[in-house]
Amino acid sequence: MCLLCTLRVDVIFVDREGKRIPVKGKLGESVLYLAHRYDIDLEGACESSLACSTCHVYVSTEYFDKLPDPDEREDDMLDMAPMLQENSRLGCQIILTKELDGAEFTLPKITRNFYVDGHVPKPH
Ligand code: FES
Repeated sequence: MCLLCTLRVDVIFVDREGKRIPVKGKLGESVLYLAHRYDIDLEGACESSLACSTCHVYVSTEYFDKLPDPDEREDDMLDMAPMLQENSRLGCQIILTKELDGAEFTLPKITRNFYVDGHVPKPH
């Protein structure tokens, strides 16, 4: 296997419309950072400082158990995320490892900074 391939982690994002987007991650990169590299609409308002829940994603169940347990601060933030599920995690706290090759990260329909009806305020 080539060196670059050993550093690569192939994962799939499922966007808010249900579209599957295969992407190539790098070992050690966070899911939030990866989403931004591919222009995927995962907000990350606090820039990974565990002060928001806008990087909330659902992790495909077979991969969820491969993640280290969330620390207390992540758990606290997750409690505030709308549409919380058993497989919810914060994307900025998921660090890509080879074990996550093939994982799917689904964006919830809403995050805390979105209006429930999907309206996004326009800048003035
Ligand atoms: S970006 Fe705010 S908690 Fe992840």
